[in-house]
Amino acid sequence: MLIEDLNKLKEDIGKEIDKVNYHIRKTLADIRVKVFGKSGSLTALSKGMRDLPNEEKPKVGALINEVRSFLEEKISNKEKAFEEQELVEKLEKEKIDITEPSNDKVGAPHPISAVLDKLTDICVSLGFSVVEGPEIETDYYNFEALNTPKNHPARDMQDTFFINENILVRSQTSAVQAREMEVRKPPFKIICPGKTYRNDSDSTHSPVFHQIEGLVVDENISMADLKTMLTILMKRLFGEDTTIRFRPSFFPFTEPSIEVDVSCPNCHGKGCQTCKGTGMLELLGAGIVNPKVLEISGIDSKKYRGFAFGLGLDRTAMILNSINNIRNFYRNDIRFLNQMK
Ligand code: PHE
Repeated sequence: MLIEDLNKLKEDIGKEIDKVNYHIRKTLADIRVKVFGKSGSLTALSKGMRDLPNEEKPKVGALINEVRSFLEEKISNKEKAFEEQELVEKLEKEKIDITEPSNDKVGAPHPISAVLDKLTDICVSLGFSVVEGPEIETDYYNFEALNTPKNHPARDMQDTFFINENILVRSQTSAVQAREMEVRKPPFKIICPGKTYRNDSDSTHSPVFHQIEGLVVDENISMADLKTMLTILMKRLFGEDTTIRFRPSFFPFTEPSIEVDVSCPNCHGKGCQTCKGTGMLELLGAGIVNPKVLEISGIDSKKYRGFAFGLGLDRTAMILNSINNIRNFYRNDIRFLNQMK
């Protein structure tokens, strides 16, 4: 009886599996449960072994095993074939038609990225390494380590957004200077590009803007090194006939501090609308690193000195592309962006 039932099951289910086609492939899982599951038909028949006389058990046991592996193999062969077919279909669907004509909307780097790339290339060619730091920064690295204690009036110029008393979005990439000086051994030359934040908003200021910071620490650094470096940078950025001018300024983390102007690349110093008739454009803050800052970061200020500069990328991109409103950078207006290619 049992033997007949088993052979019948083998035949019936075998046929059922044969009938499953690609479109109803999920029914294979149902068949599996129906046959091999807890209350499946083969499971039920296997239980019948208990009532057989001992001498028949090996024969029936072998048949059960044969039926089981026959059906299992049949199911898994089908499943494998369907998987392969599925892959072929997927590949077919995702095929890229390279003969399809392309549209003319070719992208281009954003003007700010373009300036950043250019400046990075120039600085790397001069031996600088590029480092990045966090945009969400501690009050310590953004101010304290840069010799700007709480209540220092210089904080006024950099009113930024505080998350709590000690955490803020950085108002200057100089914060990365402070971080790097703690971990690097002089001599070193780094640039730190990135987003910065201030509570400022008009046609030339945006609450989110971009800076690139340069820092060189070595023995015997002087203003002459800073001037040479900035002259090279500005000439490569704006053109060989560019000149620069230093004006005294104040930053708590540099001493002496300077403001650096460049000759207007638009009129080459003659005076035009871009430079409001002055022939020069204010572009950078810079100076000799205050020995106090070196000491705070654990660098021996008797042995080492440094120079640093910080430049606004948005302003530079505005000058290079004759843009009069900083918001154009953030509006994502395709008519504006198309002119920047
Ligand atoms: N961090 C200064 C600013 O954002 C610029 C600066 C950088 C000045 C490095 C001196 C040295 O205004």
